[in-house]
Amino acid sequence: MEELRRRHAAAEAGGGDERRARQHQEGKLSARERIELLLDEGTFEEMDKLVRHRCRDFGMDEQVVDGDGFITGWGLVHGRPAYVFAQDFTVFGGSLSETNAKKIVKIMDLALKTGAPVIGLNDSGGARIQEGVLSLGGYADIFLRNVLASGVVPQISAIMGPCAGGAVYSPALTDFVFMVDRTSYMFVTGPDVIKTVTHEDVTKEALGGASTHNTTSGVAHFQAQDDAECLRMIRELMSYLPPNNRDDAPLGSCDDPEDREDPALDTLIPAASNQPYDMTDVIRRVADHGQFFEVQEHFARNIVVGFIRMDGRSVGVVANQPAFLAGCLDIDSSDKGARFVRFCDAFNIPILTFEDVPGFLPGTAQEFGGIIRHGAKLLYAYCEATVPKITVITRKAYGGAYCVMGSKHVRTDVNLAWPSAEIAVMGAEGAVNIVYRRELSAAAKQSPEAMEAVRREKTEEFRDRFASPFVAAENGFVDDVIEPRQTRTRVIKALRMLATKVDTTPKKKHGNIPL
Ligand code: HXC
Repeated sequence: MEELRRRHAAAEAGGGDERRARQHQEGKLSARERIELLLDEGTFEEMDKLVRHRCRDFGMDEQVVDGDGFITGWGLVHGRPAYVFAQDFTVFGGSLSETNAKKIVKIMDLALKTGAPVIGLNDSGGARIQEGVLSLGGYADIFLRNVLASGVVPQISAIMGPCAGGAVYSPALTDFVFMVDRTSYMFVTGPDVIKTVTHEDVTKEALGGASTHNTTSGVAHFQAQDDAECLRMIRELMSYLPPNNRDDAPLGSCDDPEDREDPALDTLIPAASNQPYDMTDVIRRVADHGQFFEVQEHFARNIVVGFIRMDGRSVGVVANQPAFLAGCLDIDSSDKGARFVRFCDAFNIPILTFEDVPGFLPGTAQEFGGIIRHGAKLLYAYCEATVPKITVITRKAYGGAYCVMGSKHVRTDVNLAWPSAEIAVMGAEGAVNIVYRRELSAAAKQSPEAMEAVRREKTEEFRDRFASPFVAAENGFVDDVIEPRQTRTRVIKALRMLATKVDTTPKKKHGNIPL
């Protein structure tokens, strides 16, 4: 018993008081403190607390810490099981050894067998240098588990310190990446290597801090002010997720009436078609209790994605944002939307689309950057998704973007439109310039006024015919045109109707999404 207690105490001491104090000075919590905040109180069951590394080189046989610097195990989040690992920076800089990699592999295998999420709290100097290829092998063993678990159990990564080199690829393979502002960074090659190779001067923070990855690269999905906020946000995200791809997301309590009408929605669309409004306003007005948990809030802001509850059930929302780049689809927003749609589809979360999209963003930067390839990802994701899909067109649905954004043709189940919807191949002005080019140049030969008169008349004609939801409704491409105030109740009814939906895709090994 004495020996057992001694070993437990040694494991709990980690790298010792001095190193832990340094961790606190840097504004970071210790690995154990993080786990305590993450899990429901008193539910943590630790595994492999007595594991020791096997390295005998470079004096490592003199430095053995029970648990070997990673804390692994399982506990409850909102009463439901979740596996967790936390890298303890006070032990060899949280570096990954052969043995502590095996600890992670063990809980990931259990997560796959039992169908529960995995949450990784990263704070590490990377591969344990003294162990060489044994450490690299450990990383690869984890990468494989990340991929095997992808789409089977939700995987969440929090970056709460360094995460560099190949080590970044484990978080990158998981579903959601959280980063803590100012104390975390992620990069494949650091500032020193960059300076040597490309002669660029860049700080760690500018290269791979929370802000960079949340706004510029899109690597991260959430940015937290400190460790405590990060762990709270993970718990909130977990409340929307099912434990695995066979179970449903937890049912939240809902005392927000299903038939709550919101008259403000009737006047939310500005009179002028080119005037912006905030789509998150629509989302909040429709959602249970006005709550919207936004994902990748700061990246590709022309598309908005995140979770709401409707009737107490988790719903994934994808929405064009007219307040940013007029809601155009571009490379980044296509990637962002596609990844979110695929997450929802993998985990049985219905997809609700709010559409107001003037088309794809024009420009050489977009074309050279491969907007064709990236836009195709979003199209692919919508087409392949078999979860209940509902689309509400609030205003513009133009061109290819109409097809992509959850149109009836990509097997969306219920398509609704507000009376303000405009559904056409392109805007009236552009259409007239192409279709009536001959008439316009003939009139131009008479006088500029004559040309303007033709243009005005034809534009009006086009607008009357197409700048409305009625042609689409006549053709059954939208199932109904609704009063905006009724959106919540109509969507909830549709979700209930679709609760038993079963749809399939031709048998295949896997598709070939245009990556
Ligand atoms: C072993 C390590 C370590 C590592 C840090 N330590 N990184 N031990 N392997 N990778 C130890 C240090 O020796 C030190 O021990 C303690 O952890 C704290 O480190 P400090 O340097 O004092 O901390 P700090 O000043 O905060 O700097 C943190 C750091 C730096 C920036 C992470 O430690 C660092 O640059 N480490 C090396 C990073 C690296 O190059 N890793 C390999 C990347 S390649 P003491 O006993 O003094 O407390 C990689 C490939 C993955 O990871 C491949 C996947 C396929």
